[in-house]
Amino acid sequence: MTERPGWAPGEVDIDTPSAARMYDYYLGGSHNFAADRELAEQAMAVWPDARHFATANRAFLRRVVTLLASLGIDQFLDLGSGIPTVGNVHEVARAANPNARTLYVDCDPVAYAHGSALLADVPHARFLHADLRYPKAVVSSAELTGFLDLSRPIAVLLFLALPFVPDEDDPEGIVEAYREATAPGSYIALTHGTGDYRPQAASQVRDVYEHASHSMTLRSKARIAELLRGYELLEPGVVDTIRWRPDPDALPDPLDGDVSRYAMYAAVGVRR
Ligand SMILES: C[S@@+](CC[C@H](N)C(=O)[O-])C[C@H]1O[C@@H](n2cnc3c(N)ncnc32)[C@H](O)[C@@H]1O
Repeated sequence: MTERPGWAPGEVDIDTPSAARMYDYYLGGSHNFAADRELAEQAMAVWPDARHFATANRAFLRRVVTLLASLGIDQFLDLGSGIPTVGNVHEVARAANPNARTLYVDCDPVAYAHGSALLADVPHARFLHADLRYPKAVVSSAELTGFLDLSRPIAVLLFLALPFVPDEDDPEGIVEAYREATAPGSYIALTHGTGDYRPQAASQVRDVYEHASHSMTLRSKARIAELLRGYELLEPGVVDTIRWRPDPDALPDPLDGDVSRYAMYAAVGVRR
């Protein structure tokens, strides 16, 4: 049993490593417990690039949210949003479009506690504590219907969230249900880890995550494209995340552009 910090909500199980809090640890955040850090260190022993992976994912988030806001999207549904960290979606979106609204959704109690506390005085962003695998419940919730207008285009964001939805939970059906709930002109943006490049390391990481709150499913490029069926993909399609419209002003890539070390795809689609 580890000691519970004062900020941890009473109902949080601090002894079971959480995927959300392990990711917070990779990003250098402070909302994680000893059990999270221990399992994250085990993951980093077999996957030393985890921190770069997480940072590249957040950089993609900034690029794509800025792009979509500049295209006129002013409603964002961030599914599996995680524990709030630097460069949150609502901040990035508002910088590009002052009217943008963001609804965060996560099932992790620490993400919810911190998210709702952070947003208490922020009128243009809210946090819904829910399971993204139940799209009907999410889109019909009072938190969503009272805040986002689904008769107008929105952006559905799934950054590193679908790896925590196993095949038996029908990720295609989940993506399709969100697509069906949104108006034409709506977007989807996602990132997803893959075992395409280093299958052995990927299998070791999966084994580590068997001890976490959520198991991990890594998917191939072809499989990720299948998840997006029904969307028209923006150029350059499903590609390595660092190659999705890279920022020409970014600092040199810390992994020398070696996409096999990132092992993560990104894609953006639009519903016609
Ligand atoms: C790797 S983190 C990614 C966080 C953030 N989207 C980002 O890209 O920086 C994955 C997040 O998905 C959340 N998650 C996993 N399964 C979920 C589910 N079924 N419903 C809601 N959230 C889920 C986890 O709690 C975690 O916060």
